[in-house]
Amino acid sequence: MCGIVGYTGKEQAAPILLDGLSRLEYRGYDSAGVAVCPEGGGSLCVHKAKGRLKVLCDLLDGGAAVKGTVGVGHTRWATHGAPSDENSHPQVSRSGKIAVVHNGIIENYGELKDFLQGQGVPFTSETDTEVVAQLVEYFQRDGADLLTAVGRCLRRIEGAYALGIVSADAPGQLIAARKDSPLILGYGEGCSFLASDVTAILRFTRRVSYMDDGEVAVLTEEGIACYDHLMQPVEKEICRVDWEIDAAEKGGYEHFMFKEIMEQPEALRRAVFPRIREGEVFLEDFTLPEEYLRSMRSIHIVACGSSYHVGVVGKYHLEQMLRLPVEVTLASEFRYMDPIVDQRTLVIVISQSGETLDSMAALREARRRGAKILSIVNVAGSSIARESDQVLYTWAGPEIAVATTKAYSTQLAVLNLLGLHMSRVLGSMAAEERRAVLEDFRTLPEKLEKVLANRDGVQYYASQYFNRESVFYIGRNVDYALGLEGSLKLKEISYVHSEAYASGELKHGTISLIEPGTLVVALGTCLRLFDKAMSNILEVRTRGGDVLALTTESRAADMAKNANGVIAIPDAHPMLLPLLGVAPLQLFAYYAALMRGCDIDRPRNLAKSVTVE
Ligand code: F6R
Repeated sequence: MCGIVGYTGKEQAAPILLDGLSRLEYRGYDSAGVAVCPEGGGSLCVHKAKGRLKVLCDLLDGGAAVKGTVGVGHTRWATHGAPSDENSHPQVSRSGKIAVVHNGIIENYGELKDFLQGQGVPFTSETDTEVVAQLVEYFQRDGADLLTAVGRCLRRIEGAYALGIVSADAPGQLIAARKDSPLILGYGEGCSFLASDVTAILRFTRRVSYMDDGEVAVLTEEGIACYDHLMQPVEKEICRVDWEIDAAEKGGYEHFMFKEIMEQPEALRRAVFPRIREGEVFLEDFTLPEEYLRSMRSIHIVACGSSYHVGVVGKYHLEQMLRLPVEVTLASEFRYMDPIVDQRTLVIVISQSGETLDSMAALREARRRGAKILSIVNVAGSSIARESDQVLYTWAGPEIAVATTKAYSTQLAVLNLLGLHMSRVLGSMAAEERRAVLEDFRTLPEKLEKVLANRDGVQYYASQYFNRESVFYIGRNVDYALGLEGSLKLKEISYVHSEAYASGELKHGTISLIEPGTLVVALGTCLRLFDKAMSNILEVRTRGGDVLALTTESRAADMAKNANGVIAIPDAHPMLLPLLGVAPLQLFAYYAALMRGCDIDRPRNLAKSVTVE
């Protein structure tokens, strides 16, 4: 949620911190701040500002106004305390000597605040984070050094945290600590970094290590020392990040979301092509034994948001391919619901960021019950990837826009490939059928390019309907699943109220909401149910609703007889149609949001990578 960056080295810290924050703004954007240890000692320079990062950048003249070579920075997505200068991070201790940036929630902050206030410590913010700064200072009252005091503090706090801490009394030093919230260490030449997300430091170094839960690190310009929860030294594995720096830039596009929609054909090529060899699926480093796959009794998919919607499509596809029961559950529900999961259940966790807290908690719950965990993840080295028995990466490249697009399509492609792979092992699908899907996978990126090239049509429909008050997405089978995603895209970035329903459910209540002026997006890519889709469209039209339909080129003319407008996608194997069908829905949401003047890459109240409950 919030973004964290830290630097210690020989360069001026503030411009580096602001540059890092500019790449993290998508993680939270209600306020920002930096704390820098001044050259030659003295009090910390702390600057914070409510609003977008630009306010802080202007205040600090791009960083030139603050001198010092060690510091931390933060962009905030408020949890405790409304967005304000006081509640922005860094939070500082009473003396002003310790500054803390934090992502996560300190759950026992109330109790700790009471304790500290009882000791005469005054508080100036409503945040949970301020207790960390005050507590570290409190634990230094006997002269303890910064690391020791941080260690004492960590033993007292409960909850989730990624912390970056600097002290005016420990110049040159930066302390990092992590529990249930991502934190990355970066290794430069004569400098060290910390960041909540690798994109923040990619311009400066590609050598990183991923902190594990309970670890604390001391960063100096000479290097990084890492310790476990018992303060025993830990040797960290240093990995090289091969993401292109350009991939995290807008590259001439007005919005990251649009750029990422347009990148989907290429992302699919990366995710799919290396995994098809000699007409069969080849999954790299796939270590789940075939005997285990044969012993599986069920599959349970857990995820949040759009990744959950991928799981809903996956349920239809995997059941068809494997003839095994497949459940799909929201991770936030799964973790508290006493799920029926054991050694013979494969739990599939789907997550772009690999850091979503609910998905992580669901993973751990499933593991506790003996299930094997396979995750489909985009961000290499992320927590979910590291805690899984098997990871399949989507290789979509960095996704910056808050509304996911290329992650959705690559997750779905990888889930299909996984199903095809397992179907071979289980012998549950005819080899010719599997080959037919794989054959069509080869032409998928080109077909998607065609869909994207025809975006003017979608833009036209968006111009007709962008100001509707309510939009319903209806469909059956995978079209229902697709509707869930289309509806989420529209509401999250354009703030138009929208809902998705299984078409068959309309008559069980929802149809009472259809009136003249209501827009219904009717999804009709599941061609074996085409006639049913046509009947449902007529039911809507009869009640005065307008229907924008989506179907394949071969059925577009038929569909046009009943709908007000039709968007056509190329014909393909039924299993691949959702991958083509989602793009016009993403574009429709994008253009509608654009016409409504919304801040597309930074939708209100949202942030990417939800690392709090
Ligand atoms: C919507 C969106 C979110 C994410 C959800 C899960 O456009 O991006 O609904 O899909 O927060 O995030 P990950 O996939 O990172 O676990």
